[in-house]
Amino acid sequence: MTLQSDATHDAEIAGLGPWFHNLHLPDGRQTAPDHPLGDFPSFKWRKIAPHVPDDLSGWTALDIGCNAGFYTFELARRGARVTGLEPDAHYLAQARWAAARYGVQDDVELRRGTVYDLVDAHERWDLVLFMGVLYHLRHPLLALDAVAAATRRLLVLQTLTMPGDARVDPPRDLDIDERDRLLGRGWPVMAFIEHKLADDETNWWAPNVACVEAMARSAGLRVDAHPAHETWLCSPCG
Ligand SMILES: C[S@@+](CC[C@H](N)C(=O)[O-])C[C@H]1O[C@@H](n2cnc3c(N)ncnc32)[C@H](O)[C@@H]1O
Repeated sequence: MTLQSDATHDAEIAGLGPWFHNLHLPDGRQTAPDHPLGDFPSFKWRKIAPHVPDDLSGWTALDIGCNAGFYTFELARRGARVTGLEPDAHYLAQARWAAARYGVQDDVELRRGTVYDLVDAHERWDLVLFMGVLYHLRHPLLALDAVAAATRRLLVLQTLTMPGDARVDPPRDLDIDERDRLLGRGWPVMAFIEHKLADDETNWWAPNVACVEAMARSAGLRVDAHPAHETWLCSPCG
């Protein structure tokens, strides 16, 4: 590679910034090598990757809130036909640019849109990634119901949570005078954040682990595994 094209690629990466995903590009460059979370999201993917089939040939996949497309490209590498769904034009431009760098622009569809586009859409994918989005939503259950309906085989669900991992088995019914149990340890609870969390006014919710699992079940999903912090594998019950 010439010095000039090196400089061009560096300028393109800088021009598309800031980056939330540190993509490792084929020429060895990284898009966010100084990411405050570390090599993000590679370190998260390393925990999830063993739970996703190595060979996704014949699978369709949907990456909701795909950002710069880190997971979209990983699934495409395994042979899936992937749709990356992202509302933010800035991130979508990064994903489109990176798709061309990886040479997968014909294998992935990068679509501008939100999770709410799935409501009553009747489109389904074998594998759905719903990672890092739930807590940013004003209407998390509406979205989760739509995500569940869009999942044919496997859903990877990741969300910010509240500290603690206690869970109670919610009773089939609760008497009106028994509401103090709602305050008990392990009851499914989701904290509402009126203002900001981590300087981000789109962080609306922080569910506890019991609540994530209860919401998934109530959306018609089976919770199959909890392979990593704040991450669940689910499949449709029906
Ligand atoms: C915290 S980032 C997570 C990115 C990526 N899924 C990951 O796990 O690394 C949240 C992403 O969700 C996108 N997003 C925000 N609201 C959304 C919505 N209503 N529907 C779909 N994506 C949304 C944001 O633009 C951003 O790319």
